[in-house]
Amino acid sequence: MEITRILARDLFAGQTVFITGGGSGINLGIAKNLAALGANVAICGRTQEKLDAAADELRAMGAKVSAVAADVRDIDALKAAMEAARESLGTISVVVAGAAGNFPAAAEKLSSKGFETVVDIDLVGAFNTANAAFDQLRETKGSLIFISAGQAFSPYAWQVHVCAAKAGIDNMMRTLALEWGRFGIRANSIVPGPIKDTEGMKRLAPPGMDDKVAQAVPLKRMGTVDDIGQTACFLASPLASYVSGSLIMVDGGQNLEGSGRWTELMAAGIRDKSDDM
Ligand code: COA
Repeated sequence: MEITRILARDLFAGQTVFITGGGSGINLGIAKNLAALGANVAICGRTQEKLDAAADELRAMGAKVSAVAADVRDIDALKAAMEAARESLGTISVVVAGAAGNFPAAAEKLSSKGFETVVDIDLVGAFNTANAAFDQLRETKGSLIFISAGQAFSPYAWQVHVCAAKAGIDNMMRTLALEWGRFGIRANSIVPGPIKDTEGMKRLAPPGMDDKVAQAVPLKRMGTVDDIGQTACFLASPLASYVSGSLIMVDGGQNLEGSGRWTELMAAGIRDKSDDM
């Protein structure tokens, strides 16, 4: 892995990281990058089968792994998964709040329950994760990493629920950085751009559009899960020991132009759009 050519392979040796939504996609990519630098990795998600498959991949890299199912909407389940991680791997020092839900929906057609579901998973789930991890992070003077999105600061069509949730995450992140700094706990957000081969991209961009998506990014390529994983390694490491309350864009510059070009791409494949868009 690229990261092991750049950073010490034992950078996170003896440290436990806990990653929500760690069974796939960007979050599994983060898990693998941290594991490659020696971290013990705890992952949670809703489906035990998916977690077990991810755990096998991480163990094959030599990592010690805990994989306990927990829905981030259920704080007691999260606390139990974090306790299990502490018992089998050691006290948690890095938490990645990555679990998210997304689907495109025209605002006028989205039900209140649909809006609430995404806010519950993304925003309430991120709060639950931070809240449940607090005691362990205080012990280790650890670090929180939230996975945000461009939707946090640019309006994106058919994403009213996600825009609301992600904007909430970032101001919550800054609030936690402010409040918990006195315990030595850092909090930051990563803003991924369009990342290749992820569930999020499958849901938002029509199939076969990767080249067009890449052309809409100033760096003219889509991101990879390793792009995000490498940034998580930086934020989790002592290299970032004075970085707190920050939002790091890892999007190839995609959000610099706002969401206009992205909206055009989404419109080409989106099913649930209003008739008069
Ligand atoms: N368009 C409009 N509304 C939708 C929808 C869609 N594509 N998908 C779900 N909803 C609505 C449902 O209709 C329901 O509201 P209603 O009761 O008023 O009809 C509400 O959202 C809850 O749906 P449900 O399927 O019960 O939620 P869930 O908790 O089982 O699943 C989701 C959560 C909807 C976010 C689901 O897509 C999911 O599990 N996603 C996880 C993976 C993911 O999204 N990854 C990408 C992250 S970037």
